[in-house]
Amino acid sequence: MDIKKVGVVGCGLMGSGITEVCARSGYEVVVREVNDELLQKGLGRIKASMSKGVSRGKLTQEEMDAALARIKGTTSMEDFAGCDIVIEAVIENLDVKKQVFAELDRITPPHAILASNTSSLCITEMASVTNRPDKVLGLHFFNPVPVMPLLEMVRTILTSDETMEIARKFGESLGKTIVVAKDAPGFIVNALLVPYLLDAVRMLETGYATKEDIDTAIKLGLNHPMGPLTLLDFIGLDTVLYIADAMYEELKDPRYAAPSLLRRMVIAGKLGRKTGEGFYKY
Ligand code: CAA
Repeated sequence: MDIKKVGVVGCGLMGSGITEVCARSGYEVVVREVNDELLQKGLGRIKASMSKGVSRGKLTQEEMDAALARIKGTTSMEDFAGCDIVIEAVIENLDVKKQVFAELDRITPPHAILASNTSSLCITEMASVTNRPDKVLGLHFFNPVPVMPLLEMVRTILTSDETMEIARKFGESLGKTIVVAKDAPGFIVNALLVPYLLDAVRMLETGYATKEDIDTAIKLGLNHPMGPLTLLDFIGLDTVLYIADAMYEELKDPRYAAPSLLRRMVIAGKLGRKTGEGFYKY
């Protein structure tokens, strides 16, 4: 099967990034948001990101215009009817995602692959509400999607070889390097990243070191682009807490137990860059 038309459910941070990368790779893309205001916000984010790409010499103005022309924004799920693959990037709530998968199963053609960009939720459960569990898998992108070269493909015990093969070719056509993980909490990246981020918060909480020193140590000692507390602000403290709680819920492993400081910062609305303040001010 040749993928020609891609659907993206959700035009938030991840959905807009996935839409941008697919359109820039030559695919027709239908992207859906729940209302026009959120849709316009998401489409604006895509334009701003592509303009940044143009100013950095990553694509030409003509390529940007052509990519934008391949994107169709919608607020209707029915517009996924002609898609060969649909990638779900809605909020990290299993009930909402299951509802989306059931609708996609009803609307999309029988050959269509249904993928989730979840970073921690059980993909087998999403597959279980469809009549095509063999065509369901995880496609986990990283933020910022146009810049990060990795794509985690997540295989459930029901995903077919054919689906994995088609999805791999599709992921490679987006210029991504593929790794394959099984449908276990956190897949590969978050299974390792989340305990590290939580430990950095514990270090701060117990007065082990200052936030600046923790970040500088990792940046300069390990050559990471960002220290863990800057990265927490970048990802969003609420997102990391959500992932940690989901992983703890399933595994009951203390490595995934969120420290009190993280939970309280989320309650206080200090979510990181998106709210203007997290561990740092923006
Ligand atoms: N399109 C194409 N290229 C773009 C672009 C765009 N819209 N925006 C930026 N770029 C390119 C730039 O041109 C630059 O390329 P060169 O190095 O070739 O010049 C490169 O991307 C870096 O961009 P910037 O110079 O603007 O920014 P930076 O050097 O300060 O890096 C960063 C910013 C990429 C975010 C970097 O700090 C970084 O990699 N941080 C870590 C990000 C990370 O870990 N992300 C994963 C989070 S976890 C996740 O997403 C999953 C989950 O489940 C939680």
